Amino acid sequence: MRGRFSRRDFAKLAGLSALGITAPARAEDSQTNPTADPHAPASFPSGFIWGTATSSYQIEGAVNEDGRGRSIWDTFSHTPGKIADHSNGDRANDHYHRYKDDVRLIKDLGVKAYRFSIAWPRVFPDGVGAPNPKGLDFYNRLVDELLANGIEPYATLYHWDLPQALQDRFGGWQSNNTSKSFADYSGYVAQHLSDRVRNFFTLNEAGRFLNFGYGWAIDAPGLKLPTAELNQARHNVVLGHGLAVQAIRARARQGTKVGLAENIAACVPAIDTPDNVAATEVATRELNAGILNVILEGKYTDGYLAYAGKDAPKFTADELKTIGSPIDFLGLNIYAPQFYIIASDQAPHWKVLPFPSSFPHMSSEWLRIGPETAYWVPRIAAKLWNNIDIYISENGTSSEDKIAADGNIYDLDRIMFLRNYLTQLQRAIAEGAPVRGYFLWSLMDNFEWIFGYGKRFGLYYVDFDTLKRTPKLSVSFYRNVIAKNAVGA
Ligand code: BG6
Repeated sequence: MRGRFSRRDFAKLAGLSALGITAPARAEDSQTNPTADPHAPASFPSGFIWGTATSSYQIEGAVNEDGRGRSIWDTFSHTPGKIADHSNGDRANDHYHRYKDDVRLIKDLGVKAYRFSIAWPRVFPDGVGAPNPKGLDFYNRLVDELLANGIEPYATLYHWDLPQALQDRFGGWQSNNTSKSFADYSGYVAQHLSDRVRNFFTLNEAGRFLNFGYGWAIDAPGLKLPTAELNQARHNVVLGHGLAVQAIRARARQGTKVGLAENIAACVPAIDTPDNVAATEVATRELNAGILNVILEGKYTDGYLAYAGKDAPKFTADELKTIGSPIDFLGLNIYAPQFYIIASDQAPHWKVLPFPSSFPHMSSEWLRIGPETAYWVPRIAAKLWNNIDIYISENGTSSEDKIAADGNIYDLDRIMFLRNYLTQLQRAIAEGAPVRGYFLWSLMDNFEWIFGYGKRFGLYYVDFDTLKRTPKLSVSFYRNVIAKNAVGA
């Protein structure tokens, strides 16, 4: 996934060294700032991958078709009181039937990559056992349609729609039987799709579905586990990721790449001083110890185990090795700054600052506005984890989108948000952060989990009565960024 080093970049480097300016140590990094003109727009590297993203339960609908089994989100959304507008994903965007039209929308955006997720209960209705060929066929059709339109498919294997059968049988991720079943399912999908899909994400946002689903009873399956059991479930999830990586490597075509997409605990230095930046690096490692760090280092930090104490997960050395199976890229879902950090004289030498109540946010209250998150988080992640290739696997915002009298949707707040985050991302890349691509969340408004259809994250507006899709102004904004490979005029 490393970018190519062009002749033009070489000429630029040669020019700089003639001026006595030191060239970057690695030639690949130098392509990140292809122009020396300070007035030029802030360019992304050539070959940068622009994309958009969705997930299965949020858009597909067709929950009872072609042998699909039930998922925990079917059960949860049909439980009274769980979803703000009492809706569910039964029909959602009806993408299952309209995928060809939706691929056209993706193409019209000008993106060259699309991140979608595969519904495990379509492929294995009971989670394990006999596969359902008709379920996989939908993804065959989707992948073929994408490729026919020049769009590279990036498949996520788990975006929260666990087969209900595994919840009933094993308590879902409370058991490592689910971890093993996930590996079997992942290997099967990779075997059948990797002739056309070259990049797989195992899990989407493990931190979110564990805390919200197993810790706080907000998301499916709606559990409030005691800490020790929650920590064990987290261990089963990262183990599932590691086993899936191994299964994909064993059964996919050579050259298939695998990683995961995580809502990294996003730490940002409160003030940009070297001390605070160093403190933020340490905080990032510790606050991500239970998921990203154990995956990327193959061990739990001492701080994590000490903090968990008697509630620490039980694990073996072999399991840690599996969890730490090498991956090809790291997907970071970047929305809000979660922790502003300053250095401290006292152990552990970093401190989280409280948010003032006046801190601004987007239409979703949780979505605090911190464009510098897109600068610091990839930069720090690359430093901590061996300069691994990074994708921004999600970034975007909800807005109170309304259709104006002239029929347009002027989502200026979304454009403001994107412009600022992308500007900071470009800055990180120009300084050497190995970010290879960006997936804007989301292609279109969809079923936003517990918010139902009440929060709109799409580039395309969806009328949920008629299911008509209409481009918002942000479609033009994003198309322009992609066409210029830059933010700015
Ligand atoms: C991410 C998820 O957490 O954020 C998406 O990966 C989700 O699936 C998006 O739609 C917005 O989150 P929410 O909770 O506001 O619907």
